[in-house]
Amino acid sequence: MNILILGSGGREHAIGWKIEQSSHVKNIFIAPGNAGTRNIGKNIPVDLDDFSSIKTIVIENEIDMVVVGPEAPLVDGIYDYFLADPILKDISVIGPSKAGAMLEGSKSFAKDFMAKYNIPTAAYNTFNSSNLEEGHAFLDRLSPPYVLKADGLAAGKGVLIIEDLDKAKSELTTMITEETFGDASKNVVIEEFLSGIELSVFVLTDGKDYVILPEAKDYKRIGEADSGLNTGGMGSISPVPFANSEFMQKIEDRVIRPTVEGLSKDGILYKGFIFFGLINVNDDPYVIEYNCRMGDPEAESVIPRIVTDLVDLFDHTAKGTLKDAKIEFDGRTAAAIMVVSGGYPGNYEKGKLITGLDNVNNCIVFHAGTAVDVNDNSVKTSGGRVLAVTSLGETMSSALEMAYSNVEMIEFEGKYIRNDIGFDLVQFDS
Ligand code: AMP
Ligand code: GLY
Repeated sequence: MNILILGSGGREHAIGWKIEQSSHVKNIFIAPGNAGTRNIGKNIPVDLDDFSSIKTIVIENEIDMVVVGPEAPLVDGIYDYFLADPILKDISVIGPSKAGAMLEGSKSFAKDFMAKYNIPTAAYNTFNSSNLEEGHAFLDRLSPPYVLKADGLAAGKGVLIIEDLDKAKSELTTMITEETFGDASKNVVIEEFLSGIELSVFVLTDGKDYVILPEAKDYKRIGEADSGLNTGGMGSISPVPFANSEFMQKIEDRVIRPTVEGLSKDGILYKGFIFFGLINVNDDPYVIEYNCRMGDPEAESVIPRIVTDLVDLFDHTAKGTLKDAKIEFDGRTAAAIMVVSGGYPGNYEKGKLITGLDNVNNCIVFHAGTAVDVNDNSVKTSGGRVLAVTSLGETMSSALEMAYSNVEMIEFEGKYIRNDIGFDLVQFDS
């Protein structure tokens, strides 16, 4: 099988790293890829919103399966584009249809879907310029802090948590009338604030059945003890020690199964990952958000724990035979530490020489924002999140120790890491 992976981050490198180990694979292509993915396949430059160029890549390279990494092409309808094209229609696309990707593409769609299928989530309402005053009245009825979410995709920046009522009201007005997040904040979801510890749970579904992948915890803030600005994620840990079998069963019964059944009842085509962003409120799971893809940096700890052939699982997903699939995990703990550019998530410089990659031992390095300098073939930084260093250990502490000691081997000017990944889980480690 020839497989094309769309995307260029650590998630796509992790997926490609696992696909490379499959016995079903002939050639791997990554579009556009990064300096790490060129070691597992062929990188092909492309803009992910340019579906006709993607079509050309698929035809020229006799691709049998396309694995879509990020959300944007899914929300833009790449699945439907393939299905509607006589030449592409039989190629497997791992990712939901445009309608399914709305679980991530529209927070109000996702909240209405959860309400319809009784899936536990924070109380909410959606407002726009036609009912702004009602939005203010809704805020009056909630207690602080206030959660305001831009309805559409906002590159992970569309959620505001505000303590002060007057500030929340004025922010709501600004988001809607001044379109702070462009079209994405024409509609704004206001939610009740939930207090608890978060975790991410993933399934692969063929639209009827599903397999549950290892769960993970992500560390979103730039600063230690979860302080400072939100980032794409500074590290991840899998498994999550408080997600015991009883809690996971609640997640399956109250969240996963109703979601997959709801998609099926609504006639929504979905053959791909569902990412459940959950919060544990007094031992009950609530959905904070859905994503229509794997998480990043969760993929960098979750994928290395999957023992089963991932291409087999994708093939079952595409063919609608996931009920026959079995998934086996590595019982050890995986810790992924994200190494980022100084200044991220604000302004940062690119083009810094990365050294020491060859000294890494007993770890997997997943590249994210890296590029090859064509002048001297060296590897340079090209993004905020530069690479993830993942280690597996018998305990979380041993996995973290190994990952952090390898992070020290890698250098570039301005390198920054969070030193406390897993800090909130130590109490559960054994
Ligand atoms: P989202 O982009 O929906 O994942 O939201 C970003 C972050 O905001 C989440 O990871 C949570 O930490 C926080 N958040 C979102 N919704 C809520 C809520 N209803 N209650 C508490 N925290 C929330
Ligand atoms: N790590 C969170 C995300 O992928 O959205």
